[in-house]
Amino acid sequence: MAAYSVQVFNAGGKFRVVSTKPMPGNQWIQALVNAGCRVEVCTSQKTILSVEDILSLIGSRCDGVIGQLTEEWGETLFSALKKAGGHAFSNMAVGYNNVDVEAANKHGIAVGNTPGVLTETTAELAAALTLSAARRVVEADDFMRAGKYDGWLPNLFVGNLLKGQTVGIIGAGRIGSAYARMMVEGFKMNVIYYDLYQSKFLENFVTAYGNFLKSQGETPVTWKRASSAEEVLREADVVSLHPVLDKTTYHLINKERLSMMKKEAVLVNASRGPVIDEVALVEHLKVNPMFRVGLDVFEDEPYMKPGLGELPNAVVVPHIASASKWTREGMATLAALNVAGKLQGFPVWHNSNMVLPFLDENSPAPKACPSIVNAKVLGLQVAAPVSKM
Ligand code: GLV
Repeated sequence: MAAYSVQVFNAGGKFRVVSTKPMPGNQWIQALVNAGCRVEVCTSQKTILSVEDILSLIGSRCDGVIGQLTEEWGETLFSALKKAGGHAFSNMAVGYNNVDVEAANKHGIAVGNTPGVLTETTAELAAALTLSAARRVVEADDFMRAGKYDGWLPNLFVGNLLKGQTVGIIGAGRIGSAYARMMVEGFKMNVIYYDLYQSKFLENFVTAYGNFLKSQGETPVTWKRASSAEEVLREADVVSLHPVLDKTTYHLINKERLSMMKKEAVLVNASRGPVIDEVALVEHLKVNPMFRVGLDVFEDEPYMKPGLGELPNAVVVPHIASASKWTREGMATLAALNVAGKLQGFPVWHNSNMVLPFLDENSPAPKACPSIVNAKVLGLQVAAPVSKM
């Protein structure tokens, strides 16, 4: 091997596991070492590894790989991993649109992901983008640093009040619902959401919180389940996107749908870049200066479409929604345990969203793989839930 430098842990381990990147914390390394793995961590300074780079890391003998969402895991890599004797791959991410799961199925390779630790962290970043865009925090910060502040003015950086306005959620799964709850509890916003599935959990929460506010003599918050994404776009003052990226959500937000939104709306995306037609968005932002956007993800990451970076009504951050220390260390540990568990022949955990027992450093992790997305196709056994004494 070795077009690349690697850092090796437990050199004599019987399984060779490669991590294409250094990851936060040490728990993940310890988990692999405890499972008898020799761990090789690629220390190349190159941010995004190509398929060729990863082929050379896999080499002629490799049992498992932990990879990143920036990498293209398809036929070439899965067949190479299989040929090298591998059985397990895990993305260090909950999303796996960078992985061709059918190719992995074909080669009998388990594909892990890391749900259960990103929900609140991602929702908090979506909330941060909402506030930054609504209250023009980044523009104002730039202004201050540029030495342009020469006194308070009635019209200086006037933005939007969130309280009592309507927050729209497209995709009310775990992250979308957590974000909605934050905006309801924190800013007393009303909710309109669109999802193929009813979110009873969210509806009950908003109803109960509304009743509480009423009991305090305050205006209650309300919820509404929309029958289409368009209904959300027309009615909401803030829209946050939380769908998975697939054929049905590619360019969900396009020129036509942007034109349905309120002229002073805030649009937030911490899901996947291609959910928005970014060229159409740039045009929309140019002609609607009071329309503001908060973006964590981009259509052609790591690049922005021309013009986006110059627009004052766009807040842009580099795909950091899951970047809290707890979450990133948790993701690394779950990815490692997916690989380690598969190599040791463990079954798959019964509920991939309830993964806290895997993260407790004071007790041994359950003998299971936390989350394998193709477990059913590969016929992997599911661990029985541990009954409470
Ligand atoms: C981050 O974007 C993830 O999917 O984990």
